[in-house]
Amino acid sequence: MSQQARAVESTQTGPHEDLLKVVNKHRVSVFKRPIAMHTQAAFDEAIVWLSDWKGDVILDACCGVGESTLNIAQEYPQARVIGVDKSIARLQKHAHYSHKLRADKLSSEEPSLQNIDAKSNCSGDSGVANSALICNYLVLQADLNDFWRLLDNYLNHSARTIQWRLCKQYILYPNPYPKKAQLGKRWHGSAVFSNIIACCANIELRSNWKLYLEEFVLAAKVFDIDMKIEGLSPSREQPPITPFERKYAQSNQLLWTATTLGTGCDR
Ligand SMILES: C[S@@+](CC[C@H](N)C(=O)[O-])C[C@H]1O[C@@H](n2cnc3c(N)ncnc32)[C@H](O)[C@@H]1O
Repeated sequence: MSQQARAVESTQTGPHEDLLKVVNKHRVSVFKRPIAMHTQAAFDEAIVWLSDWKGDVILDACCGVGESTLNIAQEYPQARVIGVDKSIARLQKHAHYSHKLRADKLSSEEPSLQNIDAKSNCSGDSGVANSALICNYLVLQADLNDFWRLLDNYLNHSARTIQWRLCKQYILYPNPYPKKAQLGKRWHGSAVFSNIIACCANIELRSNWKLYLEEFVLAAKVFDIDMKIEGLSPSREQPPITPFERKYAQSNQLLWTATTLGTGCDR
């Protein structure tokens, strides 16, 4: 990946004038597109992986190569983390990133890694793509337009007793789709937005396009969810947690995070 990244360019100077109309329209309509088989299979795999789990679960949506999934799994060793991305090409690079991260960590923080390993839950033969040392995560290829609908249905509209709790969702550097006509492709302008919120309103969204966050926060407010936007400055102490974050930081771009107020996962 090139280390220089261009800033997002858009003819939009403020939130899209149709934003609230679009959010409200999707809020009261049913998203009927059939679920893709590969996403159903990935979702089923996730549910099997969680079948004996009684703790927190974190979703890393648009996880790309899954570097963030691994980082989040390290940050929340007592949770299970599921990374989802539609790009098989990106997910196939996961092993490379996980090995590099593991090597870096082992040379600097071996004791804490051993600690994480002791607390984690390796499921061994379930086809789970995780690193040898950090086992509390899974990365899956799936279309989130379908995955979020399946998850909402499973969590909120089935009679099952669910032992685990989705405590947080990360959406890190989603494709900005900056053209005005692309509002419907941004997550907050998409038909699945109400499912995203229904799955878990504790969300951390990051982007190098502040307007994306401003729109997302306005859309969340339609569902009575309050979020705050802050600047983000990766540093030596808090290094980038995804390849895109690293690339944007190296290009000296301003980075932003929008987080829900008041909720959280156990640490
Ligand atoms: C700009 S990349 C960011 C990747 C990663 N979060 C990072 O920061 O390095 C956006 C990612 O969103 C994924 N994506 C876009 N639409 C998606 C969808 N409908 N379902 C799953 N993943 C999607 C893309 O495949 C891509 O990997």
